[in-house]
Amino acid sequence: MAEKTVLSVAIDGPGGAGKSTVAKAAAKELGLIYVDTGALYRAVGVNALRNKLDTKDEKAIKKMLKTTNVELKYIDGVQHVFLNDEDVSTEIRTPDASMAASDVSAIQIVRDFLFDTQRNIAKKNNCIMDGRDIATVVLPDAQVKIFLTASAEVRAQRRFLELQQKGSTDTYEKVLEELKQRDYQDSHREIAPLKPAEDSIIVDTSEMPLDESIRTVVNLIKEKM
Ligand code: DC
Repeated sequence: MAEKTVLSVAIDGPGGAGKSTVAKAAAKELGLIYVDTGALYRAVGVNALRNKLDTKDEKAIKKMLKTTNVELKYIDGVQHVFLNDEDVSTEIRTPDASMAASDVSAIQIVRDFLFDTQRNIAKKNNCIMDGRDIATVVLPDAQVKIFLTASAEVRAQRRFLELQQKGSTDTYEKVLEELKQRDYQDSHREIAPLKPAEDSIIVDTSEMPLDESIRTVVNLIKEKM
């Protein structure tokens, strides 16, 4: 019997490009599972913060991983991330958790630790997976590879409004500064830096309203389905 082919869609790009919103909507429309891999790095980052560790200290993080368990579970079709059996899906969304995630994600042992979790989901499910190295490292054989991006200013503005809705008092300038710092870190690290794969399609959403971004991505996926 012919082996069933699983559909994998990789969406990479910098923070605030709208990856999760676009990927989530596209997954819903096309009946695919949405996998947000940043949540895994965020959970490791949160664990380091909770343990008051230096998030760039490789030795300390390596030791911490021995007692760290990170899992993704789907509850009513929505992804939740569990850190040592505790649902930390809300706690991982703070600006501190963003920076901690970016720090720990530059450590090879952290990437190795999370690799199988990502691969195993994609092996068993038709999915859209978003992150930084999905097309280049995690799913190099994905049938669709998209690099979703936008200017730093546009991304900062979107993130600023999102944080404001959550009650944050951070200024736009602070949000922009942190975003640029994270961009730099994520794209200049030695291991699995943020970059498009050679065969990624670049989608720049700087001038696109959300529904147009979703439509563009859905159409690119439909061409391969
Ligand atoms: O997508 P996000 O903003 O939730 O990701 C948080 C951090 O995790 C990001 O700054 C870099 C890291 N990350 C990564 O290195 N590789 C991935 N596949 C996903 C996220």
